[in-house]
Amino acid sequence: MINNIYSTVKIACYSGTGGTELAAKSFQSHLETAGCTCTIEKITHIIRKDQSNCALLLLLFPVHAFNAPEAVYRWIDGLDTVEQVSAAVISVSGAGEICPNTACRLGSIKRLTKKGYHVVYERMIVMPSNWVAPAPSPLPYLLMQALPIVVDQITRELLSGICRKAKPLWIDRIFSAIGKLETSGGHYWGKRIKVMEHCTECGWCADHCPAGNITMTNRKPAFGDGCHFCLKCIYGCPSKALHPGTCKFVVIKEGYCLQDIAQLPPQNVQVHIQDLKVGFFWLGVKNYLMDLET
Ligand SMILES: Cc1cc2nc3c(=O)[nH]c(=O)nc-3n(C[C@H](O)[C@H](O)[C@H](O)COP(=O)(O)O)c2cc1C
Repeated sequence: MINNIYSTVKIACYSGTGGTELAAKSFQSHLETAGCTCTIEKITHIIRKDQSNCALLLLLFPVHAFNAPEAVYRWIDGLDTVEQVSAAVISVSGAGEICPNTACRLGSIKRLTKKGYHVVYERMIVMPSNWVAPAPSPLPYLLMQALPIVVDQITRELLSGICRKAKPLWIDRIFSAIGKLETSGGHYWGKRIKVMEHCTECGWCADHCPAGNITMTNRKPAFGDGCHFCLKCIYGCPSKALHPGTCKFVVIKEGYCLQDIAQLPPQNVQVHIQDLKVGFFWLGVKNYLMDLET
């Protein structure tokens, strides 16, 4: 039984392709099991004035270009100033807590601190990467298996009052600052998404875009200037009728579906994680999984 120091927890979560949302739901379930009252607020383009009291704010976001998505910053800017409310910041990345990602929580921690939050805990969760290239097998499957384990670990640490602060690499502060250009790059990119002939005009993309950037115009999706670059519409389109018009390398060709990754154990899943040759880029993922094993 955990000695629970927070009775009410508000989870605020931005998610594009669902990885961060899965983590948020897992936190909700673990926190409620530990006796907390817990709500989830989805961060989108709409700034809601839901300022319900909580003892702990748990902020979750996917890492976008070594940063939090711009929508997360706008959401924090819209918060009322508080006194004596604790906060935890959890980033969800595809590559882990390695260079150039280690400064990705700095911007949101600074903003929360300005609003009066006392940020007591920060941590990186790793989920299967949704951009450029998938991690080599069986890492994506193992990451899905690892999610409830890491959430349980974080919940226990948080509720027992353990503080965890990271030390970002100085070079990553530079990467993070440069990464902010991704916001305007994303606006440009989103405006150029192509709608293929076989679009069934179902409107799924318009209904699910967290940026509210897609409208059905003459029964076809039309893209505005506010794309968050989250890739939800491209991967989630039921008829796979949306294709990038530029920088095509950003989208994983085989598609991206977390349910499929979780359900289909790859053949090499029995190989010991320390024996896997994963390449330099995925070392952060390997280390994350090895840390959880010990
Ligand atoms: C535009 C974009 C930029 C990204 N930048 C990074 C990054 O800088 N570092 C990283 O490790 N992962 C990066 N990712 C991968 C996501 O952080 C990762 O897949 C995350 O789990 C996605 O969460 P979601 O499913 O909730 O959207 C990026 C993804 C996108 C779409």
